[in-house]
Order: sequence, then C-alpha cells, then structure tokens
Amino acid sequence: MKITVIGTGYVGLVSGACLAEMGNDVLCLDLDASKIARLKDGQIPIFEPDLDGVVARNVAARRLHFTTDVEEAVRFGTIQFIAVGTPPDEDGSADLQYVLAAARNIGRLMTDYKVIVDKSTVPVGTADKVHAAIADELAKRDVQLPYSVVSNPEFLKEGAAVEDFMKPDRIVIGADDDRAIHLMRALYAPFQRNRDKLLVMDVRSAELTKYAANAMLATRISFMNELALLAEKLGADIELVRQGIGSDPRIGYSFLYAGCGYGGSCFPKDVKALIRTGNDNGHALQVLTAVEAANDTQKSVLEKKLVQRFGEDLRGHHFALWGLAFKPDTDDMREAPSLVLIEALLARGATICAYDPVAMTEAKRVLGERPSLGYASTPDNALEGADALVIVTEWKEFRSPDFSRIKKQLRHPVVVDGRNIYQPALVAGFDLEYYSIGRKQAENDKEITRNA
Ligand code: UDX
Repeated sequence: MKITVIGTGYVGLVSGACLAEMGNDVLCLDLDASKIARLKDGQIPIFEPDLDGVVARNVAARRLHFTTDVEEAVRFGTIQFIAVGTPPDEDGSADLQYVLAAARNIGRLMTDYKVIVDKSTVPVGTADKVHAAIADELAKRDVQLPYSVVSNPEFLKEGAAVEDFMKPDRIVIGADDDRAIHLMRALYAPFQRNRDKLLVMDVRSAELTKYAANAMLATRISFMNELALLAEKLGADIELVRQGIGSDPRIGYSFLYAGCGYGGSCFPKDVKALIRTGNDNGHALQVLTAVEAANDTQKSVLEKKLVQRFGEDLRGHHFALWGLAFKPDTDDMREAPSLVLIEALLARGATICAYDPVAMTEAKRVLGERPSLGYASTPDNALEGADALVIVTEWKEFRSPDFSRIKKQLRHPVVVDGRNIYQPALVAGFDLEYYSIGRKQAENDKEITRNA
C-alpha cells in the first residue's frame, strides 16, 4: 500500500518505519528540512531501541522515503497519516493548529480518494474538524473528491515503541464508512496474524479511547503514590500491598508501581486535556483532577525526603542524581520528575552532579548551563563527595551497584530511591541509610538524624 505519514516526530517516525517494515511504500513528510536531511542520511533524531535498524533497513530497501515537499506527500499515499504534534495550550487543551494545517494541505492538493488517519492524540471531535477543513479546501477549489477521516490512536510506549507497533495489544479504528474500514483492515492485517486485534468503532469513541487509556493508567499510578505516602505513615510496605492487590486478576500487576511521579509526553498532557474536555462540556472530571494534583505532590517527594534528612537550607550540600529521563530506555525529558527535583534542590542552594545513560545531552539542552549543576560521565563519578545518592529513573544499570563503593564515595551514607529498585534490608546491610517510597526502613537502618 502507498502511505504518507505527515510529521516525523516520535509517533510519525515509528509508524512510518514499522509500516514500511511490513512491505508498504511509505513517504514521511516534515517541514523541518534539516530533520529530513538527517533522516535521509540515516540519523534518527530520537533515542528509541531498534528504530535505527528498522529505518536503515527500509531506507535501503527503498520502501521508506523522506520529503519536505507537501504536494508530493499528499499525492503519494492513499492513506494519509496525520502524526504532527498537539502541544498543550496554556489552558491545557490540545493545540490543533498543526493537525488542521495538515488537513488543509490535503484538501488543497488531493486529486483522488484519500483516507485521512488521525494518529496524533487529539480531543474528541477533531476528526469532524479535519473533515470540515478538507471540505472547505475542496469547496475553494470547486471540486468534489471522495475522502474518509479515520481515528487510529497510538498506544506506543517510549522505549518499546517498535515492539508495541509491530505486536500491538489492540488496534483501535474509529471510522464511519466501509471503504475506509476495508482499507484499514487490509493495512493492519499483517500485524495481527495470531488473533483479530482490530476494534472498529465510531470515530468519537476511538478518540475518547486514547484519552481513557492514558487517564486510567495515570489514575492507577497516582492512587498507588497516594497510598505509598499513607503506608509510610502507617508503617506498611507499598511493595507488599502492590503484590497483594495485583494478584487479584480484576486489578492485575501493571502500572501499580509507586515512585516519584509520572512524566513523559503523554500522561501529563492527556490528563490535562481530558480534564479540560470535561470542563468544556459542563462535566467536571473529579477523579482525574485529583490524579493530576496527586502527581504534582509526588514530584516533590524526593525533595521532601532530602529536606527531612538534611534540613530546609541545603546550601553547602551536594547531591548525586542517577537518572534524568522521565523513564528508562528513552532520552525524553518532557515532564520528567528529575526536572522538578533539580529546580527545587538548586533553589535551596544545593549543588548537583547528575548522570543518565542516554538523556544527558537532552538534559543539558532543557536545563541549560548552570554553575551548580554538573554532569558525570559515569554513575561512579557522580557520587564523588556527594552527601546523598538520589535515584530518579530506574535504568537497569543502576539495579545492582557496588554498595560498598557507594558507601565509600558518599560523604553521608544516604541513598534516596524514587523508584524502589533495591531491597531495603540489602542496602541497610551495607550500613547505608535507605529511603524509598512507601516502604519501612529496614531494621538495622540508622535513626534519621537531621542536619548531619
Ligand atoms: C504512555 C502509555 O503507556 C502509552 O500507551 C501511550 O501511547 C503514551 O503514554 P509513555 O509515556 O511512553 O507511554 O510511558 P509509560 O511507560 O506509560 O510511563 C509513563 C510514566 O509513568 C513514566 O514517568 C513512568 O515512570 C510512570 N510509571 C509507570 C509509574 O510511575 N509507575 C508505574 O507503575 C508505571
């Protein structure tokens, strides 16, 4: 099939590359000429496992192409994926200007039947706006051409996006006409050979499904984070509670990990946008409003633990940070809990040395050069002379460290773990004070001594 993908951001590039991998002819459009030049040269602008291999293979096979030429792109694909950004407006609603600009271009330049597929996460009702924008352009040209607008939300997780695309749990198609449904079925048939994963529904339900999925996952996390803070007060262990409830098949184990808050490009933005949609429609979403507030609180949890241990005034204190990305296996810093922690510690006068396996370049770009914020080339180097080690992202390489070396390098034997990656008793066995989220201190932990 001939497919155009508009927008070579995260979703567009992964979708384009994976559709080419299944033998389709794919043309990816982006208005950013330097990005397209780099992609043609095989340079991938994001860190995503396996994506470089899939792109290189399909470029070499001449199934995956890149262009900045809007007309060429519109003419190329019968299926036109819109995968441009929908950044949040100041009021939290998704900004649709790029989606609608893409729709207008299609209406302005199409010459035959097109299926326009909304792949970007867009508020309910966007497909109707896309439909109207195309109709408008066709009317200006005084031509009548057939087209369908389909919603096909993505459920890709950063760090596992290629795998998620190639082996989806489900493929949601929101469409109102048979011609489009038939084409979408054919397009996705190779991705669902072991069972039918296609859920065909009306367009608005498909649009809402995407928000509902992310909002539900964010709700589980905020719920567990709130319970974790309560568990600390009660002397209970949130990890045991997690196992205790996860074993109920109605609840399940996924997305119940307490931590230092959720981040990324999706959960914060989509929760905000859905709250906004509720308000716009006279239906305040009370649960989701609390989910967002709980997450804001949770992003300060590591700062609070450090203040409790070292005092309000952190001047003269130096901290080692392991992990900057919002989660492992990505260099994405969007809404990362590390950003909130870094700003808070610097504001209290502390100095920081940070390490992340892949997100350091991105972190420097986002945070800029600060005299109080340094970057280490290894996790070990970050520890030098620090008052405490703070773990913000659970990269695999942090999971089995040499605790006796950590003990030796730190000025104070303090490890603050925002992702519960160690067994408290094990860390305490190295004579380290270990603070994690929602868990009891181990028996042989030291008493908390303020201002040590
Ligand atoms: C998410 C959705 O999972 C995906 O389906 C959607 O398409 C885009 O948004 P992503 O943002 O890549 O994907 O990351 P995800 O793995 O879902 O994690 C989001 C955040 O939640 C991270 O900050 C992570 O650390 C946090 N999280 C996740 C928890 O704090 N606890 C958990 O149990 C799971």
